[in-house]
Amino acid sequence: MEKTNVFGVVLAGGIGSRMGNVEKPKQFMEIGNKPIIIHTIEKFAVHPGFERIIVLSPKAWIGYTQDVIRKYLPKTAEVDVIEGGSTRNETIMNAVRHIEKNYGLDDETIIVTHDSVRPFVTHRILEDNIRSAKLSGACDTVIPATDTIVESADHQCITNIPDRKKMYQGQTPQSFRAARLREVYEGLSEEEKEILTDACKILVLKGEKVELVAGEVFNIKITYPYDLRVAESLLGGGY
Ligand code: CTP
Repeated sequence: MEKTNVFGVVLAGGIGSRMGNVEKPKQFMEIGNKPIIIHTIEKFAVHPGFERIIVLSPKAWIGYTQDVIRKYLPKTAEVDVIEGGSTRNETIMNAVRHIEKNYGLDDETIIVTHDSVRPFVTHRILEDNIRSAKLSGACDTVIPATDTIVESADHQCITNIPDRKKMYQGQTPQSFRAARLREVYEGLSEEEKEILTDACKILVLKGEKVELVAGEVFNIKITYPYDLRVAESLLGGGY
């Protein structure tokens, strides 16, 4: 594949505990007769902008991930499956290390990081992420908040109601100049690493600019059993 210095990073290192007691992590559950993770990888595989797609899965599921990719995407050669990390950000850092070791990393290397359990990402969203990350260094995919956001510090009473017009819901992809993201991440204390579960938040707290890219309402994350039913109907409706 062409050397674009842009890498798709599909995050599948989680175990999906909120999905309940299922025999495999949610990214391997099927919607429309295909594992969720395959729907997601397909979106990256048909986009010409990626030099390589890195898929990160739990250690025990690496072989299984390779098997499903071979089964459902036999013509897709440009995918590497490697081990994820103990947290979502550690999973991203594993991808950065892998890229550096195998393909080389410079200041312009872009990673488009995406939840494996958001199978409805579009070509347009990927395109806008690549463009924005190249121009501004970092971007987050969001949609305007539809519900009013109510904050409660003690989980009992309201402490704040921010102006809805300024509120967005974060989705993925989140895209970055990889070297800069790693540099900022490595400067964090262990406590900060624990709290900063969102990759964009790392940059925002350190005063770096993160641009907004428009997501889609249907770019949902499959988290609970209910979301599987929503995903099935989205597939049926051609969304
Ligand atoms: N993820 C990852 N590495 C981790 C944790 C999460 O790559 N150490 C990935 C998940 O596989 C998922 C995405 O990040 O695709 C979004 O996270 P989430 O929906 O929270 O997934 P899980 O951690 O698997 O789910 P849960 O929180 O219910 O256990």
